[in-house]
Amino acid sequence: MRSTHLAQASFGYAICIILATYCTVAMAHDNSSTDTRLTVVNDGGNKSSPLLYGIMFEEMDHSGDGGIHGQLLQNNGFQGTSLNITAYAPVGNATISQDSSKPVSKAITSSLRVEVPKGVTDYVGFANTGYNGIPVTGAAYNSSFWMMGEYSGTINLQLLGSKSGIIYADHNVTVKSTKSKFTEFKTRFNTTYSPDGHNEWHLTFDGSKVGGGSLNFGYIQLFPPTFKGRENGLRDDLASFLDEMNPAFLRFPGGNNLEGLQVESRWKWNTTIGPVVDRPGRESDWFYPNTDAIGLDEYLWWCEDMNMAPLLAVWAGKSYGDILSGPDLKPFIEDIMNEMEYLFGDSSTHYGKLRTQNGRKEPWKVDLIEIGNEDDLTRGCESYPDRFNQIYKAIHDKYPNITLVASNGDLKCLPSPLPKDVIIDLHLYRKPDDFVKLFDQFDNQPRNQSVMIGEFGCRNSSSAEGEYWPYMQGSCSEAVYMIGMERNSDIVKMASYAPMLQHFDFVSWSPTLYGFNNTPDSITPSTSYFVQKMFMTNKGDTILPVESSADFGPLYWVASKTDSKYYLKLANYGTDHQSVKVSIPGTKSGRLEILAGPRYQGDTPYHAQIQTVTTSVFNPQGNYSIQMEPWAIAVLAVS
Ligand SMILES: *[C@@H]1O[C@H](CO)[C@@H](O)[C@H](O)[C@H]1NC(C)=O
Ligand SMILES: *[C@@H]1O[C@H](CO)[C@@H](O)[C@H](O)[C@H]1NC(C)=O
Ligand SMILES: *[C@@H]1O[C@H](CO)[C@@H](O)[C@H](O)[C@H]1NC(C)=O
Ligand SMILES: *[C@@H]1O[C@H](CO)[C@@H](O)[C@H](O)[C@H]1NC(C)=O
Ligand SMILES: *[C@@H]1O[C@H](CO)[C@@H](O)[C@H](O)[C@H]1NC(C)=O
Ligand SMILES: *[C@@H]1O[C@H](CO)[C@@H](O)[C@H](O)[C@H]1NC(C)=O
Ligand SMILES: *[C@@H]1O[C@H](CO)[C@@H](O)[C@H](O)[C@H]1NC(C)=O
Ligand SMILES: *[C@@H]1O[C@H](CO)[C@@H](O)[C@H](O)[C@H]1NC(C)=O
Ligand SMILES: *[C@@H]1O[C@H](CO)[C@@H](O)[C@H](O)[C@H]1NC(C)=O
Ligand SMILES: *[C@@H]1O[C@H](CO)[C@@H](O)[C@H](O)[C@H]1NC(C)=O
Ligand SMILES: *[C@@H]1O[C@H](CO)[C@@H](O)[C@H](O)[C@H]1NC(C)=O
Ligand SMILES: *[C@@H]1O[C@H](CO)[C@@H](O)[C@H](O)[C@H]1NC(C)=O
Repeated sequence: MRSTHLAQASFGYAICIILATYCTVAMAHDNSSTDTRLTVVNDGGNKSSPLLYGIMFEEMDHSGDGGIHGQLLQNNGFQGTSLNITAYAPVGNATISQDSSKPVSKAITSSLRVEVPKGVTDYVGFANTGYNGIPVTGAAYNSSFWMMGEYSGTINLQLLGSKSGIIYADHNVTVKSTKSKFTEFKTRFNTTYSPDGHNEWHLTFDGSKVGGGSLNFGYIQLFPPTFKGRENGLRDDLASFLDEMNPAFLRFPGGNNLEGLQVESRWKWNTTIGPVVDRPGRESDWFYPNTDAIGLDEYLWWCEDMNMAPLLAVWAGKSYGDILSGPDLKPFIEDIMNEMEYLFGDSSTHYGKLRTQNGRKEPWKVDLIEIGNEDDLTRGCESYPDRFNQIYKAIHDKYPNITLVASNGDLKCLPSPLPKDVIIDLHLYRKPDDFVKLFDQFDNQPRNQSVMIGEFGCRNSSSAEGEYWPYMQGSCSEAVYMIGMERNSDIVKMASYAPMLQHFDFVSWSPTLYGFNNTPDSITPSTSYFVQKMFMTNKGDTILPVESSADFGPLYWVASKTDSKYYLKLANYGTDHQSVKVSIPGTKSGRLEILAGPRYQGDTPYHAQIQTVTTSVFNPQGNYSIQMEPWAIAVLAVS
């Protein structure tokens, strides 16, 4: 889009010369002559990528476990090696411990042993306190547990306030359990609304039947309503919030969390499929064990349920420990090909059949596969060309229609030449001014190399490693950068902000699109959430030229259209008010969305004080006036 930019620059220049006298005079009286005039030209223009704005997800900050995944009990399968009885407590006169001598399954290698002293006559058992509490919304919840040990009678399940003792659910299940094996019990019960998140789940049984003995429990689960009612699904409230943004694709499962701290602890697709009780979980890259309850199939259901194109990343030989290349990579390439067969094979193939058994008959539709993650970093550069070539060849030979993505854009870390049609993935976490300096990053790029910005987000420069929330100047800089992408979306195919979601009580890395904890109404969008939503929900399929009375900066813009619907996006990256006079011939009405607020202010947990404000606009000539406060972002959508 280089020449458009130049055309606009010289147009702006000409206006300034012609109007120089007028401008000076007028400015002395009012600020109307500082209006920027923008005329959208309904002619020519490049196609924009239909996948331009998507979402990047990886398990971190409890974005998945205890986050968007519906299951609410923490440490429910004792996965990983670090948690022991974290989140559990005895109820009544019982003692509890993690018992490795009684595995629930091959994958779930321990259970909770509940010992009951002789002479106990009460109901006793154990509590699970969730991920710093449990939201109890008044809806019907599903719960399940595995149990082993001689017991016949009532199991009582409760949801209750940890401090208040107020009971929000009280439900009996009749069970018959034996000491020879674990049996699973499932139930569903109503709850009443809890005004706070300080709740816990109790499982108790008749102690008089067990006195002097013990029972073992394992793989406990509790689900509120899930998104689209899916079993082992997403938390409806957190998922709906994401769905409202309208993302075009989902990049998963990482990110660093794909790679593993060691080769052995990498994300392994084949341990994330099938019944959850057969998934061992893993020590992750983000400081806590993962349950892998969101596994390969769940990611793909998630994509289908939100109408997103999946961008699946495959492990490419790099962990934070060893890096495997050359012949050492061969078995892992075979593993990738098995994964492909799981996705695409019909039920006559070994892995295709496994997929069918796991509930998905039709092949999955996956058109985009990324090879690794950030291989320009953490010692990956030197060996990446070889690793990329091996994996590229294996996938491309068998599945020529899949678009492959290289995990970085550094020429010396990429094969030369890069095969045709490969997309390169750039990640940018920057200070606000640095994003704005990159506004024209793509204007002068060759048009034959497609690009994805697989991760980007503005980082607070005064606290580069700290915890903080996006704020207006930072979110505005992201908008400026995205305007640069969208103007060049003939080559910038995809972009996804990161990270996506954080649980307020478990943050290890900032920023975020939105956050939450288990308090009612805690879901809080950041100012960057609103920017992403404004951009995602107002995208045309063709980018249009814009004639302007000024060059870019501090005001930035991009126009697009689909059929007779026109979109103009604006960002004011500066300390002065900007008045903009827009002309979009042939249109007459629509809406104006504006996000505005003080430079250093953002939304903060529980306080989304800055939100997009939408007003209607109408002008039979297609002329609209837009007042842009400092750091404001706006979208005009008219037809
Ligand atoms: C310019 O005009 C707008 C209203 O049209 C006003 O809000 C703003 O304060 C003015 N800016 C300056 C610098 O006078
Ligand atoms: C389309 O892209 C080409 C190649 O960069 C550029 O010359 C042209 O100006 C672009 N058209 C529009 C309307 O942006
Ligand atoms: C859990 O921690 C307790 C107390 O530190 C310890 O005695 C026990 O061995 C640990 N259990 C496991 C399974 O590691
Ligand atoms: C719990 O059981 C132990 C052992 O039987 C007994 O000494 C103790 O008094 C009991 N405590 C309560 C609170 O029942
Ligand atoms: C559960 O069973 C116990 C023991 O029979 C009984 O005391 C209690 O009232 C029952 N609770 C509910 C909610 O049915
Ligand atoms: C929950 O309550 C509704 C309405 O009171 C009732 O129809 C339904 O059967 C209850 N569900 C369960 C699982 O108890
Ligand atoms: C909850 O349990 C019911 C059966 O009791 C089942 O039909 C439903 O699919 C379950 N919902 C979820 C989200 O697992
Ligand atoms: C997963 O695949 C690896 C490599 O092909 C294999 O060694 C392992 O046994 C598989 N695990 C499961 C649970 O199928
Ligand atoms: C690739 O796409 C073309 C066109 O849609 C189709 O005809 C062909 O069967 C596909 N090839 C494979 C291997 O899927
Ligand atoms: C793109 O075009 C340039 C100039 O024609 C060429 O040097 C380069 O190799 C091409 N890149 C790709 C990925 O085809
Ligand atoms: C940036 O982080 C620092 C340190 O955490 C904090 O004091 C400051 O308020 C943050 N600035 C913004 C604009 O969020
Ligand atoms: C609308 O905008 C066009 C183009 O800038 C201009 O020529 C025309 O005079 C404007 N009409 C009105 C009524 O302001």
